[in-house]
Amino acid sequence: MTNNILNNFIGPKAENIKYLKKLLDEVIDDHAAWRKSFYEDDPALIKTPAIYNRNLENELKKFMKRIHSNLPFHHPRYAAQMLKDPAIPTILGYLALMMSNPNNHAYEGGPVTTEMEMEVIDTLLKMTGYKKGWGHLASGGSLANMEALWAARDFYPEGSVFFSEVSHYSWKRICSILRIKNFEEIQVDARFRIDLNHLEKKLKKKRTMFVAANFGSTGTGSVDSITDLLYLKEKYGFHLHLDAAYGGFARSVILDKSFNIIPKKNVKEIDNYIYEQLKAIEKSDSLTIDPHKLGLISYGAGAVLYKNEKLKDMILNTAPYTYHKLDKPNIGMFSLEGSRPGAMAAACYLTYKVIPPHSGGLGKIIFSSISSSKKFYQLAATSPYLLNLNQPDLDINCFYVHTDESTVKAVNTNTELLYNHLSVETKNPEFILSKFVLPPSLVKRILPDYTNAQNANLSVMRIVFMKHWSSLRNFYYVRELIKTLNRLLQK
Ligand SMILES: Cc1ncc(COP(=O)(O)O)c(C=O)c1O
Repeated sequence: MTNNILNNFIGPKAENIKYLKKLLDEVIDDHAAWRKSFYEDDPALIKTPAIYNRNLENELKKFMKRIHSNLPFHHPRYAAQMLKDPAIPTILGYLALMMSNPNNHAYEGGPVTTEMEMEVIDTLLKMTGYKKGWGHLASGGSLANMEALWAARDFYPEGSVFFSEVSHYSWKRICSILRIKNFEEIQVDARFRIDLNHLEKKLKKKRTMFVAANFGSTGTGSVDSITDLLYLKEKYGFHLHLDAAYGGFARSVILDKSFNIIPKKNVKEIDNYIYEQLKAIEKSDSLTIDPHKLGLISYGAGAVLYKNEKLKDMILNTAPYTYHKLDKPNIGMFSLEGSRPGAMAAACYLTYKVIPPHSGGLGKIIFSSISSSKKFYQLAATSPYLLNLNQPDLDINCFYVHTDESTVKAVNTNTELLYNHLSVETKNPEFILSKFVLPPSLVKRILPDYTNAQNANLSVMRIVFMKHWSSLRNFYYVRELIKTLNRLLQK
């Protein structure tokens, strides 16, 4: 990766912190000038501006001490959950608008940031290949998923809702909130992708309204076969929603600077299956995509996109005290959420101007995470102790420890051993990983040769390689992780 890309981040050793300070100063000075220029001749209301505020400084000192016990989410040694190191333009964009605090629920609450939000959505529409459509930012993937199902529920005639057994927990919760009783979870295959035969059996029996496919499931990052689901959609007629909260931005890897698809021969490193699924994203009906996951933005940034703009009318709401400027976008009229930070839209706007979601920008970063995952998979396969649970589709790896007796109990014991050394439960761990727990029904399909006398859950270790730092210096941190695992498991 070039310095041009890397220097958009603070860096694990705060390498770019001086530069960030300089830019922060510029943003703050600019904000001050803007404040001062408003009715320049008005009197100042604070007669003695602060040079010392004992209470604030004391509390700030305590606060800073307290946040040192925060986890090092920015560092490649932290690979437990989907936490990304935010890019410098994200921090600048957020801060610049946090200081004036616009609210994007209505145009009048944030005229500039509403326009920025619509431009971000335009970029996301181009990136996903929807060409036409509507969408908006949301506070996260759960809310985006919920809104999509709400709109679909009221747009189509009644029918069943299907999603796979490894789908995000929000789906069951959403069905409960929307009082959709007619939902079912579909089995997955050994690669954690939705089992199309199982789904088709259900489709034959029941009129189906909505299928939510995973484009990067939470546990293993698995990508359902969108190409096959499109075939089933054609045959049985349903709304195909992609829960691409995690993996949607991976499409940037196969896009040129004009957001056109790069021919497969020019992106050889991407597996055929994933390439075809990334291409097929544009044929889905709606999707959830989270800038606060692979999209480099700090938290509260999700998004929902609809190909058919008419779905938005299903959730139209007006209010007597706002939304007066109807020739302008009033996002809150068509969204589940009310107040939303304009600062978040600004962060997305500045970030995607600097690091656009195509192969010349964000695509490079995501490609490096996928490469780290592939490297770990290869190195784990040569370790005498480790077994890959599955071949990852994106950048999340699951593995367990080889044992002489093929029992769930033996696997779990070794997973606990590793977890006790390498997790948030440990003091000063060398790496922070997570666990993925499979219910017995899934174990039977994923590891059929493992005896499961107690009908117990199976725990495996899980690594989220979303930090692009892991691929640098010839995969230094991936190699260090493998060394650490081998050392801990040496008898
Ligand atoms: C596939 C998927 N969908 C939805 C969500 C929910 O997103 P959020 O936590 O932003 O609400 C997640 C979160 O991890 C996810 O992985």
